[in-house]
Amino acid sequence: MTTSSSERGVSLGMPELPAPAYPDDVRARLESDAREVIARYPDSRSALLPLLHLVQSEEGHVTRTGMQFCADMLDLTTAEVTAVATFYTMYRRRPSGDYQVGVCTNTLCAVMGGDAIFESLQEHLGVGNGETTEDGKVTLEHIECNAACDFAPVVMVNWEFFDDQTPASARGLVDDLRAGRPVTPTRGAPLCTFKETARILAGFPDERDGAVAAGGSAGPASLAGLKLAKGEVPAARVVHPRDGGPHDASQDAPQDRAVHDPSPTEHLSSHDAPQDTSASDPSHPAGPTAEEGE
Ligand code: FES
Repeated sequence: MTTSSSERGVSLGMPELPAPAYPDDVRARLESDAREVIARYPDSRSALLPLLHLVQSEEGHVTRTGMQFCADMLDLTTAEVTAVATFYTMYRRRPSGDYQVGVCTNTLCAVMGGDAIFESLQEHLGVGNGETTEDGKVTLEHIECNAACDFAPVVMVNWEFFDDQTPASARGLVDDLRAGRPVTPTRGAPLCTFKETARILAGFPDERDGAVAAGGSAGPASLAGLKLAKGEVPAARVVHPRDGGPHDASQDAPQDRAVHDPSPTEHLSSHDAPQDTSASDPSHPAGPTAEEGE
C-alpha cells in the first residue's frame, strides 16, 4: 500500500494559488489612500513600508492579497514585496489580536524583570510567543529594546509604553485589555487598536483629541548624553581606572585632557589588556597578505 505525499506530510513545493482580490469597494478605498502615500515620495518604491502598514491596517496583518496590492501599486514584484514584509518584525504575517503586547526581554529589561513578566503572561494567558488568546484580543510576543531602558522593564501595547512593569501589573494590564476596560499608557498617546495604529504608521493623521500633543518623551537617563553634547550640563567627571576615584577633568593640564592612553601595565581588565593579535602572533603576521606563490 502506498501513501500520498500529503499523507506523509511531504510538501511538493506546489506554487500557491493567486492571492484573492480585495472586494471592489475595499480596493478602491485602499488605492485612493495608497496614491496619497506614494505622492509623498520622489520614487514610488520608497512608499513600500507605509503601504505595508496600510494593508496591515485593513486586515490586521499583511496577507498575500495585501502584498499583491503593494506590488501592483508600486510596480514591484511580489517577491520584492515579500522580502521586505518578512524582514521587518513590525509586519505580522498571520491573524493576530487587537492588542499586540510586547514584553521587552532585551538585556536590561530582562534582568530587571522582563523575563519574569513574559513567563508570567505566558502562563496567565495560556499562549506562547507570537500566539493570540482565544478571544482574539491579545497577541503576546518578545520584543527587542525600545530605547526605554531607564524605565525597565517595559511592556508595549500596540507600540505605546507601559513603563516600570511587574508581573502583577502586566497581568492586570492584559486583563483590562481583554475585558475592554480603559487602559492608559505611561507616556504618549492614548491606546488604540492594532489596525488603528497601523493606519497612523502608514502616515495618516492621528485625529484623536490630544493624541499628538500627548507625545511621550525619553527619561532623564536617556537624555543625559544629549544634554551633555548640547553643553546644557557641566562636563562629565572622569574616573581614571588606576585612581579608583572621581577625577575633575577640568583641572587637568591641557595636554592631559587629550584621550588618556594607558600603558599596557595600567590595564585592569582582560578586555583592555593587549591581546594576541595578528601583530603579536608570529603565526599570523600582520601586513599585506602575499598572493600565493609570491
Ligand atoms: S532593554 Fe528594554 S527598553 Fe531597552
